Amino acid sequence: MTIDEVIAKKRDGLELSKEEISQAVCGYSRGLVPDSQMAALLMAIVLRGMTSQETADLTFAMAESGERLDLSTIPGTKVDKHSTGGVGDKTTLVVAPLVASFGVPVPKMSGRALGHTGGTIDKLESLPGLTTDLPPERFVRQVAEIGVAIAAQTDQMVPADKKIYALRDATATVESIPLIASSVMSKKLAVGADAIVLDVKAGHGGFMPDVESARTLAGAMVDIGLRAGKRTVALVTRMDEPLGTAVGDVVELVEAVETLAGRGPADFVELCEIVAGHMLCLGGAVPSPQEGRESAQLNLASGAGLEKLEEMIVAQGGCREAVRDLKKLMGETDHIPVEVERQGYVAAIDARRIGLALRDLKALAGERRRTCGVLLHKKTGDAIGGEPVATLLVPAGLRDLSARAVSQVQGAFEVAESAPVTPSMLAAVVLP
Ligand code: URA
Repeated sequence: MTIDEVIAKKRDGLELSKEEISQAVCGYSRGLVPDSQMAALLMAIVLRGMTSQETADLTFAMAESGERLDLSTIPGTKVDKHSTGGVGDKTTLVVAPLVASFGVPVPKMSGRALGHTGGTIDKLESLPGLTTDLPPERFVRQVAEIGVAIAAQTDQMVPADKKIYALRDATATVESIPLIASSVMSKKLAVGADAIVLDVKAGHGGFMPDVESARTLAGAMVDIGLRAGKRTVALVTRMDEPLGTAVGDVVELVEAVETLAGRGPADFVELCEIVAGHMLCLGGAVPSPQEGRESAQLNLASGAGLEKLEEMIVAQGGCREAVRDLKKLMGETDHIPVEVERQGYVAAIDARRIGLALRDLKALAGERRRTCGVLLHKKTGDAIGGEPVATLLVPAGLRDLSARAVSQVQGAFEVAESAPVTPSMLAAVVLP
C-alpha cells in the first residue's frame, strides 16, 4: 500500500494494520515520508481515533524506531513512573529516590518543560555540575550500583516520537488519546522497566481537562502496557491547582528536598506517598499499595529517601553540600508579593495561568530562568483576608518587567464567600 492509501484508509475510518502503521512511522522517522503526509495521517487519527490494537501497534513501531536500553544486568523488578505533566509537579524528584531507598531499582528518563508545564530535567539541572546526559552504559551502571538514575531522554531513543511530537505541536494534533498514549508509552517501553506507574493528571493544569478524559487516556496506556507484558497501573490525580506550594525550577527542587526531609506540603506529600506506594507494590517490596504508602511515610520521616537523592546527585556529578544549601542557587532575587482584593476563601487556583505566567517570566529571564518562581501562600480552601496569597520570585533587575506575570498570578485566584469542598488527590486507579 502507498502512504497516501494508508492516509485515505484512516480518513475513511478503517482500521490500519500493523504493517501499514509501521510503514508510516519508519518511513517518517527515516525521512522517506514527508511532513505533509505524516501531518495528514495524524489529523486523520485525531478525527477518526484508533482501536486499541492500532494504538499498541503505533506505540511498538515508535519504541522500535531507535535505541532501547537493556536493563537485564540490574537485579530485581525495575519500576518506572511517568506523569502526564502538570504545574508544580516535582513528584519524580521525590518518589524515584524514595522508592530506590527500599532497594527497588528506578530507571527514570524524564522530559523538559512542555507548554505551560515544567520538566524534571530542568529542575534537576539547576544543581551546578550535575548532568542528566547519561550515556546508556552509565545510566544502567548507576541504577545497578545505587538503585536510581534520572536522565534526559537521548536523541537516539524513540526518534520517531521526537519528530512526530514536533509535527503534532505545529499541526494542532496534540490532543488525541491514541497519539498521547503512544507517545508516552513508546518512551517507557524503550527504557524497558518491568513495571510502570502512570500518574495521569486531570484538570486544566495538565493536558486532560477532566477526570473522564484522564481515565480514558489512563485506560489506553494501561492497555498498551498489558500488551507489552509490563505490569502497569495508572493513577488519575487532580491537577486543578498547582501541586504543592512552589512552581519554578530551583524552588521546586527546594520543595522536593524539603518533602524528602519530612517537611512537604500536604497535597504534594499525599501524592508522593500514593505514587511511591504503588511503585513499591509493583516492585514486590510490599504486598499492597496501602502498605507501600505506609512504608513510604516511614522513609520520608527517617530521611532515607533524601540520602538516596544525595547519593544520586553525587553519582551524576553534583555535590552533596549544594543540596544542603539550595537557597544559595537563587542568587539575587526580588520577591514581589501578590495580593487579591476580595476577602473570603480560595475557591480555585488556575494552575494553567500560573504555569503560563512563569513560562513568560522565564522567557524574559534568559540565563537566569531557573531562579524564577511562584510561591503560593494560600491553597484552595484557605481563608484570605488581605495578606499576600503568593510571592513572585524574579531575578534582580527584572522587577519592572514582571507586572504582567503578577496580574496573571492574581487572576489565577478565585475567591468565594465560603470554603469549597476539596476533593481528594486521587480520583481513580486504573488497573489492567
Ligand atoms: N507527554 C508526552 O510525552 N507526549 C504527549 O503526547 C503528551 C504529553
